[in-house]
Amino acid sequence: MIELGESSTSSFLDNLKVGVVIPAAGSGQRMEGKPKQFLQLAGQPVLKHVLNLFLSYSWVKDLVVALPQKQFEEQPSWLNQDSKVQWVVGGATRRDSVWSAIQALSEDLDLVIVHDGARPLTSKKTIFDCVKVASEGLGAVAGTRVVDTLKATDKNNQVLKTLDRSDVWRAQTPQVFPYDVLFGAYHKAIQNDWIAGDDSIIVERAGGQVKMVECSLLNFKITFPPDLDLAEAVLACSKS
Ligand code: CTP
Ligand code: MG
Repeated sequence: MIELGESSTSSFLDNLKVGVVIPAAGSGQRMEGKPKQFLQLAGQPVLKHVLNLFLSYSWVKDLVVALPQKQFEEQPSWLNQDSKVQWVVGGATRRDSVWSAIQALSEDLDLVIVHDGARPLTSKKTIFDCVKVASEGLGAVAGTRVVDTLKATDKNNQVLKTLDRSDVWRAQTPQVFPYDVLFGAYHKAIQNDWIAGDDSIIVERAGGQVKMVECSLLNFKITFPPDLDLAEAVLACSKS
């Protein structure tokens, strides 16, 4: 995929104030109970790769990371190296972690990017594409179209039917929203205890319009142990 350089988009971004929220307070149950955001990937922690995706941009004004209690109390030095970065203690769910971070953002932002602390391979193009859609007043969700045949089964894996996969997407991050839309939707979600695995579910339920933005298959989240090896291989290939 061709990378879009910052120069070709800077005029549009120059007028925006963008905040970034990084939920990184999970415990990595599918990663043998290791908080995967602190595991090493190509010589630095996964979460450091994620911070690096955003810190070089002048239009990113504010970046808040939600951390587990332990790392909040003993912050690693690499977290502390940029004055834009703040940290908060995360909550029991991703939703609670994101809400803690949103509340710590400055209030004069136009847009907020929410990006998983375990998704280190996101491209510049995907970030810019999502920011562009959100700057038009919509929610923007990076994702990929489903390419495999989808089967619905019973509890014994017996196929009940084949599902229609056209217009079905896998939703990932970044997810970008106008600040007021995201804040208002999360406020409602917390007041009413809506259960939600990601941010777009909350914005949709609050009545917001959300659009999918197609991204690369390399935008995967580190979830299971082999994902770390895969990410290493991708980074090694992109260097050579
Ligand atoms: N996350 C968070 N607070 C939580 C749970 C998750 O900030 N209470 C963050 C994770 O750190 C991760 C992102 O949300 O960056 C996506 O979550 P997921 O991949 O599910 O990470 P974990 O919850 O750590 O993994 P698992 O579900 O396997 O335990
Ligand atoms: Mg989880």
